[in-house]
Amino acid sequence: MTFLSGFEKIARQAEPLAMHTWFQLGGPAEYFAEPENPEQLIALLQRSQEEGLEVRLLGQGSNLLICDEGVPGVVVKLSAAEFAKIQITGRRIIAGGGASLGRVVTTAVHHGLAGLEMLIGIPGTLGGALHGNSGTRGGDVGQWATAATVITNNGEVMTRGRDDLVFGYRESSLDDLVILDGSFQLEEDDPHELARRMQKQWIVKKAGQPMGHQCAGCIFKNPRGTSAGELIEQAGLKGTRIGGAVVSDRHANFIIAEPEATSQDVLRLIELIRSQVRDRLGIDLELEIEIW
Ligand code: EPU
Repeated sequence: MTFLSGFEKIARQAEPLAMHTWFQLGGPAEYFAEPENPEQLIALLQRSQEEGLEVRLLGQGSNLLICDEGVPGVVVKLSAAEFAKIQITGRRIIAGGGASLGRVVTTAVHHGLAGLEMLIGIPGTLGGALHGNSGTRGGDVGQWATAATVITNNGEVMTRGRDDLVFGYRESSLDDLVILDGSFQLEEDDPHELARRMQKQWIVKKAGQPMGHQCAGCIFKNPRGTSAGELIEQAGLKGTRIGGAVVSDRHANFIIAEPEATSQDVLRLIELIRSQVRDRLGIDLELEIEIW
């Protein structure tokens, strides 16, 4: 029996991961699986544990850089419709971890539920957003979360209630292996007014940040009280290039990967930015994106 036995329909070997990420860079996953439902997912996690294979959860790959060498073990993507359901009951919205954050936001707005509209334009899945507490200056996803269903690192399905949920700047206590769904308690408001606020937010975001290029979100977290983008610009690094990786001219906390770029180019540019900002401004920048 091999690792794939019985999972042939949902898992494969040596899957290129570049196309699963916004950077469109990096090597293959040793194994890649797209389970169709939670039962298959749990069976797959058990098999991985038996085989001693590490499991990583991939969302939409918008906050992630894959190394050129690829990733050992199993990469799981919750792309099936079963993991992307969105349900509304009164002022409560429950959404699957595989749902796109954008769809959760627009569904809430459509139903006249306020709170999440400031998050429009943030890429990624709901699971990824909860894990990293995605947000803007106007608020973050965690402030509206009341519960999450997770699969722990031991393969146990558990509900984490409000008392278990702690959210900070771009971090949360939700570091379980899988986030199956999240619940949010929102506020009633006029859908037209909400749609207007959402559109305004979208325009501001599009004007200030590169979107749809070969880039992820912000590369570094903002050091307390300042903006990493502003610091990188002050250090004179806008437009700096290594190979096919370039510091964005529009917003210096973004890196654009041109078609010939490699992950190594991006990694070297990240190190260059870090060392220059440290030398010139005396500030250590902490990574926001994940590197596999
Ligand atoms: N600025 C510069 N040069 C630049 C970029 C920004 O001088 O190249 C200045 C701006 O002029 C402004 C200040 O820095 O005075 C702040 O800029 P901005 O409003 O763009 O906000 P930010 O702090 O750079 C944060 C989040 C973004 C989020 C925006 C808007 C982080 C790391 N970044 O950016 O989140 O979209 O606020 O709410 O927290 C992300 O986390 O991936 C992300 C994109």
